[in-house]
Amino acid sequence: MSRTSVTTGDPVTGSSAYPLGSSVGPDGHVIVGGCDLVAVAREFGTPAYVYAPADIRSRARAYLGALRARGIDSEVLFASKAAPLTAIYRVCREEGLSVDVASGGELHMALAAGFEPARIYMHGNNKSAAELRMAFAAGIGCIVVDSLDEIESADWLADREQDVLIRLTPGVAAPTHAFVRTGEIDSKFGFAIDGGQADEAVAAVGRSRNLRLAGFHAHLGSQIYELDTYVRAIEVLAAFCAPHEPRVMNVGGGLGIAYTSGDRPPSIAEYVDLKVDALTRCFDPLPRILLEPGRSLVGNAGVTLYTIGTVKEIPGVRTYVAVDGGMSDNLRPMLYGSEYEALIASRADRPASVTTTVAGKHCESGDILVRDVGLAEPRPGDILVTPATGAYGYAMASNYNGIPRPPVVFCDRGRATAVVRRETYADLTARDVDDG
Ligand code: LLP
Repeated sequence: MSRTSVTTGDPVTGSSAYPLGSSVGPDGHVIVGGCDLVAVAREFGTPAYVYAPADIRSRARAYLGALRARGIDSEVLFASKAAPLTAIYRVCREEGLSVDVASGGELHMALAAGFEPARIYMHGNNKSAAELRMAFAAGIGCIVVDSLDEIESADWLADREQDVLIRLTPGVAAPTHAFVRTGEIDSKFGFAIDGGQADEAVAAVGRSRNLRLAGFHAHLGSQIYELDTYVRAIEVLAAFCAPHEPRVMNVGGGLGIAYTSGDRPPSIAEYVDLKVDALTRCFDPLPRILLEPGRSLVGNAGVTLYTIGTVKEIPGVRTYVAVDGGMSDNLRPMLYGSEYEALIASRADRPASVTTTVAGKHCESGDILVRDVGLAEPRPGDILVTPATGAYGYAMASNYNGIPRPPVVFCDRGRATAVVRRETYADLTARDVDDG
C-alpha cells in the first residue's frame, strides 16, 4: 500500500480513500477540493473536518445515473446519520436526492436545508411521540415503522393518512462488524420475517385508521463489500413482500468504502446494478425502488486535519505521534477497530520513513487513531491528514475531555469555507443552568 501518494476515490472503480480530484502539489502538499491542506489548517486551525463537496455530488450522480440507466422508478435517499450537517443535506438536496432521518434532530436539519417534506423518510426503532408529532406536522413523505407499539402510537397521533414502510429483518447476517449488522432476526430493529412478526405488522397497519402501507424497508448493515449478501436478502424479502404488491421497496444502504488505498470496494454502479437485477428478478411488477446510502456518499469526501504535538520514540517498542484530536472526533477505530491511513500534509511526496502509531490527546490508552502507519519524518507542528473520515466521524463526535468539536470546512474549486464553526470553551458551558 502506498503511504506517500494520494490516490483519489473513484465512484466508478470504487477504489481509494481520498476525495476525488485530490492530488499532491509540486511542494509536496496534499490538495483537496483545489485547496492546499496546510493552508486550510493554518486558516481554520486543527483538528478540522474538511470535505470536498464535489466528491459527494459526483457519488450522488453515480447513484442516480446508474438507476436512470436502468430506466426504473426509483429514489436515492441520503442516510443522513452518516454526516448530519445542514450544508451536506443541502448538497444532497441540490443533487436531487431524498433523505432518511433517524430522529427529530435529523428531521430538523433536513427541513432547515430545504428538503421538501414529501422526500423525507423517518426511521428509528424508538421514535418518541414528540418526534412522530413533529413528522406529522411537517407532512413528511413516509414513516418507516419499526414495532407494533409504534404502529399503534403513530396511528393514534396521525392527524391524516400517512404512508408507512414496514421495516423487516430478513434474517441474513451481513459480513461486517457485529455493531453495524442490522438484518438478523436477533436485532433491535424491525420485524422478523420468520416467526410471523412481519405478518402481524402488516395486519396492524391494515387495521389502523390513518396508516397506509406503501411498502417495506430492510437494511442489512454497513460497510459491506460482499454483494451476494444483498442478493440473498432481496430474495428473502421478495418472498414475503411480493404477495402484498408493495408500491415501494426500500432496500437500504450499506455499500462499503475504501478506508485505505489498498481497499477495493465494489463501485456504486456495480452495487446498484446488482440490487436492481435481483429486484427485477424477484418482483413483477417492480415497485418504486429506494436506495439509502450514507457512507458511500460522504465517507471518501471527508478528511481530518490534525497538528502533531509530540513524537515519542520508545526504543525497540514503537513511536507514538500524538495529535490534537482523537476519539472525540473519530470514534471508529476505538469502537469498531477500523483502520485508517495518514500522511504528513506538507511532505506527501516524501518516503514514509518512520513506522508510527498515531495517538489522540484523550485520557485513555485506547485513544489510537492509526496503528503502524509510515510517516515522512513526523515532527511537532506538522499537519497530519487522515482520509475517509467523511462518514460517522462528525456524526459521532463528542466533547470528551472538554475538547471543543472541530469545525467543518468545505473545499471546493480552490475555495475553503467553514460551514460549521469550531466549538468554543464558552459553548462547553453555554447550556449550564445557574441554579444559584
Ligand atoms: N439505512 C438505515 C436504516 C441505516 O440504519 C443506515 C446506517 C443506513 C441506511 C446507511 O448505511 P451506510 O450506507 O452508511 O452503510 N457508525 C457506524 C455505522 C452505523 C450505520 C448505521 N446505519 C460506523 O461508523 O461504521
